[in-house]
Amino acid sequence: MMPTGILSNRICLITGSSRGIGLGVARVFAENGASVVLHGRDESVLRRSLAEFSEPKRHSYVAADINTPEGVGVLAAAFLRLHEKLDVLVHSAGILGPPKIPLAEYPVESWQDVLHLNLTAPFLVTQALLPALRKGDSPSVIFVSSGVGYRGRAGWGAYSVSKFGVEGLNQVWADELKAESIRVNAVNPGGTRTQMRAAAYPQEDPMTLPTPEDIAPVFVWLARADTEVTGQSVEARDWVGRDPAN
Ligand SMILES: NC(=O)c1ccc[n+]([C@@H]2O[C@H](COP(=O)([O-])OP(=O)(O)OC[C@H]3O[C@@H](n4cnc5c(N)ncnc54)[C@H](OP(=O)(O)O)[C@@H]3O)[C@@H](O)[C@H]2O)c1
Repeated sequence: MMPTGILSNRICLITGSSRGIGLGVARVFAENGASVVLHGRDESVLRRSLAEFSEPKRHSYVAADINTPEGVGVLAAAFLRLHEKLDVLVHSAGILGPPKIPLAEYPVESWQDVLHLNLTAPFLVTQALLPALRKGDSPSVIFVSSGVGYRGRAGWGAYSVSKFGVEGLNQVWADELKAESIRVNAVNPGGTRTQMRAAAYPQEDPMTLPTPEDIAPVFVWLARADTEVTGQSVEARDWVGRDPAN
């Protein structure tokens, strides 16, 4: 999409933005004027990712493993040292867990890890940053869902169950925050060219898939201060090639 200033002055935290969909969305937000805070576990990866932005000084990063409540606390405290308000919160951190393992044999440790990172962490991060969202300008929270979050599929185990949970989390937060005009929506990215997709579909040619930047327009639209929808679950694929500025 053509860079615009439609996200000028918007402060955006994107969890899981050291690579993949989170990084692509962060780049496109930055090109459209936002100040972004990148997040992942590895500080050196985050530093390298940020160095490739056209105006790195406008942006920052926080390293925190959010697979524990303590790690969520680290992320929230570090974000609040950088900014006192939050306009856009995108929950992109996620893990697949062991692929193609039937529930009958699914290891409980993996179940707990996947459920925690994909479902409990976005609940806790939203809760911890709610005071900053309340100070935001037309605040927007964006969860990242999946097609297996509406229809369960054999071999997708805890990942599928966690995304059903994300759909529920989206609807409950949206309903509870409506009165405060904090918008909450979920995006199903559809198959996207990332490490996670390659792990799930090793036989697939990644070049047949849209890139994270290709699917970013719907995130930009939901991040805009003048978008009004809340409580929706939207398909990123429907927005590929569309201009969210119009
Ligand atoms: N790609 C697809 O086709 C597709 C389709 C549907 C839904 N999704 C969803 O889209 C989101 C992004 O997926 P992706 O494909 O971009 O995955 P990815 O390339 O594997 O990226 C995952 C991100 O999450 C971060 N992360 C992982 N574990 C973490 C932890 N414990 N604490 C903090 N950060 C952690 C990773 O950073 P570090 O490893 O550096 O910590 C990385 O930035 C996920 O929620 C996924 O379920 C993806």
